Amino acid sequence: MMKNRKLLYSVLISCFIIVAGFSIYFYYQTQKLTNQVSEATTVDEELPSYHFTLIGEEMDHDYWRLVGEGAKKTEQNYDVWVEYVGPRRSNPEEQLKLFDIAIKSKVDGIIVQALNDDFLPMIDKAMEKGIPVITIDTDAPDSMRSTYIGTDNYVAGQLAGRALVEDTGGEATVGIVTGSFSNSHHQLRVEGFKDIVEKEAGIEIVAIEESNITRVIAEEKAYQMLTEYPDITALYGTSSLDGIGMTAAADSLGMDDVYMMTFDTLPENIKLLEQEKLDVLIEQKPFEMGHRSIELMLEIMKGNQVEDVYHTDAKVVKKEDLDEPGIEEGNRYD
Ligand code: BGC
Repeated sequence: MMKNRKLLYSVLISCFIIVAGFSIYFYYQTQKLTNQVSEATTVDEELPSYHFTLIGEEMDHDYWRLVGEGAKKTEQNYDVWVEYVGPRRSNPEEQLKLFDIAIKSKVDGIIVQALNDDFLPMIDKAMEKGIPVITIDTDAPDSMRSTYIGTDNYVAGQLAGRALVEDTGGEATVGIVTGSFSNSHHQLRVEGFKDIVEKEAGIEIVAIEESNITRVIAEEKAYQMLTEYPDITALYGTSSLDGIGMTAAADSLGMDDVYMMTFDTLPENIKLLEQEKLDVLIEQKPFEMGHRSIELMLEIMKGNQVEDVYHTDAKVVKKEDLDEPGIEEGNRYD
């Protein structure tokens, strides 16, 4: 009897210990879960109200670095998170894929460089789904996009044309190295240039080649051009790396007197201008483009009307202009 009672007590005590153990365990698990949930809620409360995706052309390029810096800087003053994405090297298919991902992720707004006509259906798809799209750097005016921010590329081409006419007294044999035959901003830069220089009886364009916006191909094409047309007196490059390739080609052929123009005040281009290897840079405002694109998207979020186009400044920069403040940093405007 005594033995049975002892057994009963020890069973009861064991049961008590097990139940108490489980209770303590579940108590701590519940506490942990509650903490996790409240932590998650706190993080969520701190998330910015808007998520925009900005799709650039080349993440590995000083020009696009400045676009990104301008855009990301808005995060300090506005309730926004800017996701800045793009291929390392120019790759329109990859840009379109990133565009599609942004649409499928239902971001609040998309800012994209519309390199060619393939971007139009994707822009319209986003707009139809209620995601506003701003084009940056390169426009797609025939799409449904909300607005464009960037250089007036036709006018920028005209600026280069006028600089050539002024500096050569309207006498030149010209070769053009264009970034790409199929990208609309390069087409416009060539068109604007031609519309000015073709009015001059003393200027003739003898060749136009595509650099695929790489310095290596720019050099190759400039070299071929200068060899085939040794009477060339001026080269015009429509992309920021063309000048580097063109000057390298002229160097290796010992052609020091060729008048050289290219786009963008990148550090390497500035150095070549200082060394008088380049004569003219067409300066754009990449930092400002990035910054204002986000401000414009925020206006759209508020339901405010925006203009059809916002042109940022483009201007001719020569060696004597290099003392101007801001040139080295890509002319930040803040
Ligand atoms: C153009 C950009 C391009 C960049 C780098 C700039 O001149 O405006 O579209 O991505 O050069 O090639």
